Amino acid sequence: MKQAKILIADDEAAITTGLSAILEDAGYAVEVVADGQKALDTLTVDRYGVVLADLKMPKLDGLALLRELQQRQIPTEAIIITGQATVDSAVQAMQQGAYDYIEKPLNAEKLNRLKALIPKALDKYEVQQKNRELASKLEGLTHYGELTGQSEAMRSVYQVIEAVAPSTASVLILGESGTGKELVARALHHKSDRAKGPFFALNCAALPKEILENELFGHEKGAFTGSTNEKAGAFEMASGGTIFLDEMAEMPTDIQVKLLRAIETRQIRRLGGKREINVDIRIVAATNKNLQKAIVDGELREDLYYRLAVVEIDLPPLRERADDIQLLANEFLARFSQQNSKTITGFEDAAWEWIMSYHWPGNVRELKNAVERAVIMSRSSTIGPNDIIPRHLRSGGEMPAALTIPVGATAAEARRQLVLRTFASTSGDAARTGKVLGLSEEDVRAELLTLLNGAGDASSTASADNGAELPAPRAARRQEPVATPARAASKKPSSKKGR
Ligand SMILES: Nc1ncnc2c1ncn2[C@@H]1O[C@H](COP(=O)(O)OP(=O)(O)OP(=O)(O)O)[C@@H](O)[C@H]1O
Ligand SMILES: [Mg+2]
Repeated sequence: MKQAKILIADDEAAITTGLSAILEDAGYAVEVVADGQKALDTLTVDRYGVVLADLKMPKLDGLALLRELQQRQIPTEAIIITGQATVDSAVQAMQQGAYDYIEKPLNAEKLNRLKALIPKALDKYEVQQKNRELASKLEGLTHYGELTGQSEAMRSVYQVIEAVAPSTASVLILGESGTGKELVARALHHKSDRAKGPFFALNCAALPKEILENELFGHEKGAFTGSTNEKAGAFEMASGGTIFLDEMAEMPTDIQVKLLRAIETRQIRRLGGKREINVDIRIVAATNKNLQKAIVDGELREDLYYRLAVVEIDLPPLRERADDIQLLANEFLARFSQQNSKTITGFEDAAWEWIMSYHWPGNVRELKNAVERAVIMSRSSTIGPNDIIPRHLRSGGEMPAALTIPVGATAAEARRQLVLRTFASTSGDAARTGKVLGLSEEDVRAELLTLLNGAGDASSTASADNGAELPAPRAARRQEPVATPARAASKKPSSKKGR
């Protein structure tokens, strides 16, 4: 490991000489400067995990140094050294972000305390350094694994994936149908050290109980009538890799008990078997169900929930990610044009207006299918509203009659949502939307345009449209009625929800 670097800033030679000798003995690389300005210069050009700064120094005192470090966002942890008379200022230093302070005289007891403090401060520095690297690595990202998205919400999803992928912690992915839960599960696998191992996906809703159990745990020869062979289950086959339990809330409760045991012991027993088999597994689960309700209703064991949800990733619905809609639509257009050997250059304004205002209950999957259909239907070089708006929506039937505006939303945001929903409910008729809302047609168009223009410019709208102003509360999001087609228990794992 690299030697941790410490900077000592003090004008008393007796202190700096003694301290640097002690810290070098303890294995640190130590540098000494005699005033605050030199400390600042040194910290500007080079990285130090910890700076030990005297409160009273020439040129720039300890407090002023702290202020400069904060203002220039120079990463380091400051431990302030102070005379007894200046303890008040030391407290002030803590309030300004210093890691801690030590009072003079630096006797044996104080030195021991300092020696215990430094590794902790260095740990904090390292963690923050990692977070900074991660944030800058993911900043401006529009794609991650197979995921496309540049919204703040998706970037924080990328950040969580990046952070948890290397561990074996179980991850639970929540989100409405079609938000990309499976893609997130795959990204978790591919970004982990297990990427070379298998990725094994099982749809818990698609399989009858006996088959699911057999798929998960396997069986020995003769375990049940007709079992002439032994068979390894998903846990064994995916050992060294990742197992993806899709629609996990649909799992029968007695299988939940077995699963819980397997997660706790990292051992499984095949059906009809006596042997415990060790498995090395990372579990990723997904659901579009309201889990709090499933727990209350007794459908999901609470202890299993806590085992699976060590880390939770909440995928926001597409309608809350205006920044991504345009990006995804353009990407799907390019992909399906190529696949269908068509030269389609873009969407007409009226098509965009509808795309941006529709509430996309089937999320990315629905958008993808809509664009594919539009490409196939289109007879010109651009996609018009009639190509993209599904026939059953052209008469404006299937719109929710109410919309939810979270407390904390601005009036402008509320107005925009109302305009968008009404516009969609009139199948994209700006004049009628205006009439319904008591606005002029121009006002309606202007409102739609702000969203359209904004959506193309992530840097200026990412926070304004999706971030700070309109925090979608996690709990609220999960409790939203999930607008998906009814989930039949017999649904095939890969079947597309027909749209
Ligand atoms: N961010 C994204 N970027 C690109 N494609 C996406 C994205 N999210 C979803 N998709 C595409 O949308 C479709 C649905 O994604 P996926 O199967 O991962 O959704 P899901 O959340 O698992 O849905 P369900 O709950 O219905 O199983 C897939 O074709 C997938 O490739
Ligand atoms: Mg899925």
